Amino acid sequence: MGTGWSIFFGRYLITFVAGESDHRVARQGGTRFQYGSMMQFDFKSLDATSRYKLITGLVVPRPIAWITTINVNGSINAAPFSFFNAIGTDPALIVLGIGDHPDRPKDTAVNIQREKEFVVNLVPEALAQAMSDSATDYPAHVSEIDALGLATSSSQWVKPPRLDGCPSSLECRLERVLMIGENRIVFGEVLGVHVLDEVVLDVSKCQVASERMQLIGRMGGLGGYTRTTDVFQIPRKKYMGS
Ligand SMILES: Cc1cc2nc3c(=O)[nH]c(=O)nc-3n(C[C@H](O)[C@H](O)[C@H](O)COP(=O)(O)O)c2cc1C
Repeated sequence: MGTGWSIFFGRYLITFVAGESDHRVARQGGTRFQYGSMMQFDFKSLDATSRYKLITGLVVPRPIAWITTINVNGSINAAPFSFFNAIGTDPALIVLGIGDHPDRPKDTAVNIQREKEFVVNLVPEALAQAMSDSATDYPAHVSEIDALGLATSSSQWVKPPRLDGCPSSLECRLERVLMIGENRIVFGEVLGVHVLDEVVLDVSKCQVASERMQLIGRMGGLGGYTRTTDVFQIPRKKYMGS
């Protein structure tokens, strides 16, 4: 046990411990801390809003998929989704959790299920405000692209276009939709990606410098975000035998 100090934060006693073995952690900007006590939240006794607040506040940061799809009238829909991640590579798969508006399914889900194609655009800090504005509940026939004055470029493998200004876009084909309770889980196969030249480190090795994209991630609360530029490395070890 190393030396440390404690503070009360509301009803929580938070103890920060910095022992000799923690010096490397401290140098990396991390602080090892232990809670004096932990609270438990039993999801069976919570309503959906409370579960949402806990899940989205605790599972952070989440990447943001800024999705472009084609509306039924041919215009382009754009909306952000942070229930999003990459989950496999053979084939390359991404997953989205798309809910409903209070009165109707979200346009993105309707469009993906009808057209079977969509583009995941990754969000740099410079487009954070536009991304957030595109989450406004515009009626289905209104294009966020037109409403917000966004620019797009043609995609290579699918019909929905890519968003200009995003350092990377993933062109996707709908793989399947699963309904689990009220959750609509959309699986997409990535057919190909676009990456800004300056993000690519070595094209022959498919190596990219993620932090150069200056992407933002989603934190808890209604308007919480984080940057992804504070990178540190941990070399992987090989088991050398006992
Ligand atoms: C950063 C961010 C992340 C979001 N993540 C999700 C999400 O994972 N699932 C969801 O259903 N809605 C999410 N939303 C809300 C949708 O973007 C919003 O309901 C939008 O109006 C849907 O648009 P659409 O009807 O054109 O598809 C998010 C909003 C923001 C700003």
